[in-house]
Amino acid sequence: MENFIAYNPVHLHFGKDVVNDLGQTVRQYGTKVLLTYGRGSVKKYGYYDQVMTQLKAAGLEVFEYAGIKPNPVVEDVGKAAALGREKGVEVIVALGGGSVIDSSKIIALSMATGMDPWEIMTYKVNPQKTIPLINILTLAATGTEMNAAAVVQNHKTGKKLGFVHPLNYPKDAFLDPQYTATVPADYTAYGIVDLIAHALEAYFGEGEPPVIDRITFAIIKDAIRWAPLLMQDLANYELRANIMLDATLALNGLTMYGKKNGDWGVHTMGHELSLLYDTAHGATLSIAYPAWLKLKKEDISARIRTLGRGVFGVNTADETIQAFADFFTSIGAPVSLKEIGLDESNRQEIIEQFHKNEVSGMHHRLSRQDHVKLVELMG
Ligand code: NZQ
Ligand code: ZN
Repeated sequence: MENFIAYNPVHLHFGKDVVNDLGQTVRQYGTKVLLTYGRGSVKKYGYYDQVMTQLKAAGLEVFEYAGIKPNPVVEDVGKAAALGREKGVEVIVALGGGSVIDSSKIIALSMATGMDPWEIMTYKVNPQKTIPLINILTLAATGTEMNAAAVVQNHKTGKKLGFVHPLNYPKDAFLDPQYTATVPADYTAYGIVDLIAHALEAYFGEGEPPVIDRITFAIIKDAIRWAPLLMQDLANYELRANIMLDATLALNGLTMYGKKNGDWGVHTMGHELSLLYDTAHGATLSIAYPAWLKLKKEDISARIRTLGRGVFGVNTADETIQAFADFFTSIGAPVSLKEIGLDESNRQEIIEQFHKNEVSGMHHRLSRQDHVKLVELMG
């Protein structure tokens, strides 16, 4: 067991109609609000109206920044922070999935300090304060609602980076599974892949506390149990609730107790694919995880077999890898580059991108030779 510090200050409001408490919660932090959201789904499905009704009823003055894209870009962060500073905003309300919430974490830091968002993301400056952030999650996947990470990309520097900082913790997270009922089948599947990938990144980190391994398997098994039912019944409240809780638990710190780190090698591979082809985050992971497991199956055979026994009741590393790939396929997530329209002609640029950004894991290092093999294994 490795030494560890457990800390998570986020108030999690989970369940049907929890957003009814939004107005009074936001009011504790100020009256001038910046509402951030994406490219239209929240208006189309009525979540924007519900949130606005709450904010207005609490007498709050609301400014808006809309249009944050999936795989969010630093330009939006800079523009939203400038708007917030100009209006004297005191609190940010992020309504959306991971892209909106991640962007809002950096918007808050940049707004509070005047620092450049990319200098924050690259640890060139060290912000000492932020603006309170409250989120209303509309897509179960990333765990950002209850963690201290933010992922943003910058096409000028060719990097998609994760930035982890204690000031990134939101104050409150509102998770009403009803808000996720309209997530389309593809992003529902990608969200399930993402949460499983988070559990796996933790599992393959350094330190193997047995109880945490079992908790991690329980999260993965729960997602695998409900996923096929949910894919057939996308508006089912209980199924959405189960997956939403799985996603939060998979990356809110719980699976890291007794561990020194997670691995995150597969996520860094996935981020490079998103940068190059704007592939949805979860889709990059269903492609990259089977490849990474195949690459590592001799080195860490026992660890993979323990995973296979714990999750699928199978005995070998090969069966474990096949079971994950089959599961991803069964919910409609791609498991090869071919399935997202890439072929031989793309291989070299992916390898070069992996080399350029030195793709690796925190626990299991990846060499340049590994990069070549991984791209081959991604088919
Ligand atoms: O833009 P809109 O119109 O809102 O549509 C979004 C978007 O097209 C749509 N959507 C969201 N909620 C919906 C909905 N459509 C219908 N009904 C709803 N209720 O879904 C699309 C994807 O949204 P996005 O926010 O990009 O998805 P996700 O939550 O998967 O976030 C992905 C981002 O999070 C980062 C990823 O790298 C990626 O940039 N991650 C953040 C992490 C963290 N902070 O801890 C960890 C993760 O590993 C991940 O890296
Ligand atoms: Zn992820």
